Amino acid sequence: MNRDEIKQKLVLALDVERLEEAKVLVDSLSPYIGTFKVGLQLFCGFGLEIINYIKEKNSNFFLDVKLHDIPNTVEKASYNIIKNGATFFNVHAQGSVDMMKAARIGAQKASMDYNTKKPVILGVTLLTSISQEVLNKELLINKDSTSFVLELAKNAKLAGLDGVVASANELPMIKKELGKDFIVLTPGIRPSWSCVDDQKRIATPSGAIAAGADYIVLGRAVTGAVDRIEAIEKIYDEIIGI
Ligand code: C5P
Repeated sequence: MNRDEIKQKLVLALDVERLEEAKVLVDSLSPYIGTFKVGLQLFCGFGLEIINYIKEKNSNFFLDVKLHDIPNTVEKASYNIIKNGATFFNVHAQGSVDMMKAARIGAQKASMDYNTKKPVILGVTLLTSISQEVLNKELLINKDSTSFVLELAKNAKLAGLDGVVASANELPMIKKELGKDFIVLTPGIRPSWSCVDDQKRIATPSGAIAAGADYIVLGRAVTGAVDRIEAIEKIYDEIIGI
């Protein structure tokens, strides 16, 4: 895999408190990172300011706001997300097939109206913070979490979404059941030399890509490194070797 192919697969989570910190990450890492992920923390704090900054650098941005509402509201929100230039965004697959279809319709309309790149819409199946016990006892879903994830991923495909967010554990099963073209974006990435932090189901960058991940999300392994460029170069070296 060459450096440009690697860059396209790398998504950096901008999980920082201050706008200036996020800008420094975008400035220093845009030569290495294809897509910057803006989550609720940064988006609720600084809204379009950070998004416009990423766009000025000609990088893609992934708006990670996990929409979950009635179909009409999700359609309109999806329209605005694409109008504002996102390449990727996500919706909760638990919001129903109709809601996911509405996201696709809204995104496609905006993409045509504003002549944007084809939007990539991903379904969030089951949050990794939800344990088997919470699924059964609080959400009152009497299934094992792995089969529940697979059912939700099937619904996402049925609704016309492009893929799902899934850990390296579920990745092979999703690719096997839903086909290699159904996109999987994998967080919980930890190079062998980095701290595990609070992540449970982890994989190395090369391990996740070798298992079929279309995109991998890098977070604290890079943002928390003393020398971020050195960290990302080590990740490139590891992936180039696949
Ligand atoms: O720093 P770290 O590598 O743990 O960051 C992972 C990123 O991926 C965070 O932005 C987190 O919200 C996101 N994520 C995750 N697990 C999921 C879905 C998203 O860690 N199942």
